[in-house]
This record gives sequence, structure tokens and C-alpha cells, in this order.
Amino acid sequence: MRSRIAGTGRCLPGRVVTNDELALSVATSDEWIRTRTGIRQRHVAAEGETTSGLALAASREALAAAGIAPSDVDLIVVATTTPDMIFPSTACILQAKLGAGGGPAFDVQAVCSGFVYALAVADAMLRSGAARNALVVGAEIYSRILDWNDRGTCVLFGDGAGAVVLVPAAEGGILATKLHADGHHKDILCVPGQVRAGGIAGTPFVRMDGGHVFKFAVKVLAEVALEALDAAGLPVSAVDWLIPHQANLRIMDATARKLHVPHERMVVTVDRHANVSAASIPMALDEAVRDGRVRSGHHVLLTGVGGGFTWGAAVLRWA
Ligand code: ACO
Repeated sequence: MRSRIAGTGRCLPGRVVTNDELALSVATSDEWIRTRTGIRQRHVAAEGETTSGLALAASREALAAAGIAPSDVDLIVVATTTPDMIFPSTACILQAKLGAGGGPAFDVQAVCSGFVYALAVADAMLRSGAARNALVVGAEIYSRILDWNDRGTCVLFGDGAGAVVLVPAAEGGILATKLHADGHHKDILCVPGQVRAGGIAGTPFVRMDGGHVFKFAVKVLAEVALEALDAAGLPVSAVDWLIPHQANLRIMDATARKLHVPHERMVVTVDRHANVSAASIPMALDEAVRDGRVRSGHHVLLTGVGGGFTWGAAVLRWA
């Protein structure tokens, strides 16, 4: 038995911040950001918006597309680095907001690989019979863990949520998943602060060694993509759509070149969404499904890499 994605959804906060607007408050330019990253704009959550609220809107869209009522949801896995609170999990808060039943709900913390991790875990639970269907969400409000005076990081990220609904598959579906981590690289991309004694000890903002992240990401994304394709018994030439984590167009292009996947077969949203961490892959998938690019029978390759370091890939045959 396999699982397949029966519906997708996404939610972006209404406020759009262009590169030019950012350049009014920090020493940067539209030209620098576009040429280094491919990013033109990002969506930024308003004061009262929450990660679970964005997740709720994306989940409602995905459930409607799958034809599944919230009360019938059996399992909820939310990938996020920016939860509503330390606990309970954003998945539990989402469950209550949705009016979903009493099945398991938990968060996965694998930063920008989070959605691929969450998909692999939910797929394994469906295959084992532990759940009949699953809502898998990537949701982030990164704007709240950015130092808006640090031009090296604040220009790169955005906010949003993407969701998919997994159901048992008679044919097609998730053919293979591969996950990895190497904690030795924990310091090249991190938010080192911790809540302690009623305050924050250390910095609560994203810290990144950009050059190191770039090289590591390109290397492991290509490796894990080939590993997952091998497990699925497919050559790279069978890939109809590459949907990578939308960190940076240069990382995405370098990975596609390494894999010999033509640029036209890669789904790109980083120009409009920036890097939305765990939400970037499900939002890009939803866009490509809704605009008709991803169609029945297509092979879709999802690849993610993020802080930890963590990385992973999933190969699907769209049913
Ligand atoms: N605007 C203008 N200048 C800037 C900005 C900015 N926003 N940010 C940095 N600079 C300056 C630097 O200070 C430096 O100036 P200096 O030479 O006077 O010291 C200069 O630009 C060059 O900086 P580099 O770091 O060498 O620029 P580079 O070409 O490497 O690009 C970048 C930086 C875009 C961060 C690149 O290293 C990169 O893409 N790294 C990957 C990081 C990434 O994508 N992270 C996302 C999170 S990780 C993930 O999702 C997996």
C-alpha cells in the first residue's frame, strides 16, 4: 500500500514587501537581491496573524480539493520552525481550529527540509496502517525571527503556509522518500537563542554563513535526489517536475544543472515568495497543481535542505 496526495492548498499573508521597500530601511538594493538570490518580493504576516492561522487557511483549501471533511482527518503533521508558542504544538492548535477529530497531531522541526520530513513520516504512518489519511502542512512566520537590520539575512525570507492531504493510493503516489541529517553543521544556519528564566538567552534571530550554506546545499540536494530516484527505480530523465526548496534561485539552478534537469522543468516561486522555509515546497506544489503544470501520471521530485543540517527528497507519481 502507498499513499498519494489527494489535495493541495496554500495561504500567503496579504502584505507584500518588495526589494525596493526593504532598501528604504536597510543598506541593500533590488539589483543586489535579485542577482544574488532571484527574489523580487516576499509576503509578510501582520501583527495579529499566526502560523496556525496561515496553516488553517492552507489546510481548508487542501481538504476541499481532496473532498475530505475536517472531522475526518486522522493525522496532522505540521512542519514549522516558527510555531505559535513553545507548546502545545502548532499541529494541536491547528487541529482545534479545524475541528478535526482526536487522531495524533504533532510538529516536525527540520527547518527548510521540514515538509519533506513531515511527508515521509505521514507516508510511513499511512503505509503501516497507523492512520487512514493525513494532513501535512508546512507553515512559517519567519519575519518574526529575522533581524531586520541584518541585510545578510532579512532579505532572504518570507511568510506563508502550504498543505497537502494524503490518502491511501491504489496506484502511483509517493514512490520513495530519503531523509538525512548531520548535526556537525549546526552552527552554519541557526537561531541560537533559548527561552530561559523568563527571558531569551542568546540571539533570537537567524544567523547564517551564506557561502557555507550555498556549497553544502548544492552538494546534498543533488545527492539525495539521485538516491530517492534510485529507490523509486526511475532515471532522472523521468522527472517531469523538480520542486526544490525555494531557498535561492542560484542554489536551485545549480542543483538542476547538476542533475541535468532542464530549467523549464523546475517550479520556481522564490521570486515572489522568497524563502518560506518548511512552507516553500508545498506552496510551490500547490501553485503547479492548480495552474495545470503537474498532471496525472507526472513524476514529481521534491528536494529540501535546511538548518541542522537536514536534507531529504521524495519522488511521487501524480495520480
Ligand atoms: N545587500 C547588499 N549587500 C549585501 C547584502 C544585501 N542584502 N547582503 C550582503 N551584502 C554584502 C556583504 O556584506 C558583502 O560585502 P563586503 O564584500 O563589503 O563584505 C558582499 O555583499 C558580498 O557578500 P557575499 O556573502 O560574498 O555575497 P554572495 O555572493 O555570497 O551572496 C548570499 C550572499 C546571497 C547570502 C549567498 O551566500 C547565498 O545565497 N547563500 C545561501 C544562503 C541561503 O540561501 N540561505 C537561505 C537559508 S538556507 C536554506 O534555506 C537551505
